[in-house]
Amino acid sequence: MPISRRSILGAALAAIPVVGLAACSSNSGGSGSSGSGGSGPITVGFSQVGAESGWRTANTESIKASLTEANGFKLTFVDAQQKQENQIKALRDFIAQGMDVIAFSPVIQTGWDQVLQEIKDAKIPLVLTDRAVTSSLSDPYQGFIGSDFKKEGTAAGDWVKKNAPDAKIFELQGTMGSAPQVDRQSGFEAVVGSQVIGRASGNFTRAEGKTAMEAALQSYPDMTLLFAHNDDMGLGALEAITAAGKTPGTDIKIVTVDAVKDGLKALYDKKFNYVVECNPVFGDQLADLIKKVHAGQSSTTQTIVTETTFDQSITQATIDARKY
Ligand code: AHR
Repeated sequence: MPISRRSILGAALAAIPVVGLAACSSNSGGSGSSGSGGSGPITVGFSQVGAESGWRTANTESIKASLTEANGFKLTFVDAQQKQENQIKALRDFIAQGMDVIAFSPVIQTGWDQVLQEIKDAKIPLVLTDRAVTSSLSDPYQGFIGSDFKKEGTAAGDWVKKNAPDAKIFELQGTMGSAPQVDRQSGFEAVVGSQVIGRASGNFTRAEGKTAMEAALQSYPDMTLLFAHNDDMGLGALEAITAAGKTPGTDIKIVTVDAVKDGLKALYDKKFNYVVECNPVFGDQLADLIKKVHAGQSSTTQTIVTETTFDQSITQATIDARKY
């Protein structure tokens, strides 16, 4: 098989019990249209991080395609434009509106305790998607669905260790303090941390990735490998590398995370060297999880989505099959 089909998260979909997450006690807190035992749709308030990347766009489309009226939901979707204060406001609005279930993907890990306590006080079940939080509350949420970002960073590091053991690495990080930035850095560092000569954040966007790389090429002219925390920043950096008269994929090898179509095309064109998948398509699993917490199910789960990796042996057929 031409693609490296190693699952970085173990076989198939894993549902892992999370110690310390209490069951949702009841669905009586929300005053949404379904209410307790009602027959209407489940009202869901969802606060999305933003629209910073191709990954995020695909994630939003997946969630909206699954949380439909036909599937038994009434979704209120709010884009936070990568700002925590916007997310906190949206969460408070969802409480005031008496949503049956609240879900959100936190832009950064910390600073949520007060609003999470308010959600608890309102007895509204809470589901986190994509990114986790650190919280001092007991039982801060009833379910999580997303990726294992640390394993993604480790997979990137393993490829570098095997294929570019002498590389001088520059690391283009995602939004500082976000779960994927913290965990991808940690996983990567554990494998090839001693080879990292510099780091900067590109905030998960193509434009900021390009700007950060332009500066890094000046500061670290000896770099031979870029680890970008997502495809979009890698694609922005690729433009900066080309403009600087260097050949991406050769003079500077590029390893990224996400595996959106544009990233896989760059890999096929041998401008990227390795791509670790981060799977944004979990709308159907989120719908199932919301139904469970709304029903007050006593067991809570952390659902890790399945993912793979890709190298330059990727085929055009694989790219064509990519929907996002
Ligand atoms: O949280 C997932 C990350 O967020 C994706 O890797 C990135 O593209 C997005 O912005």
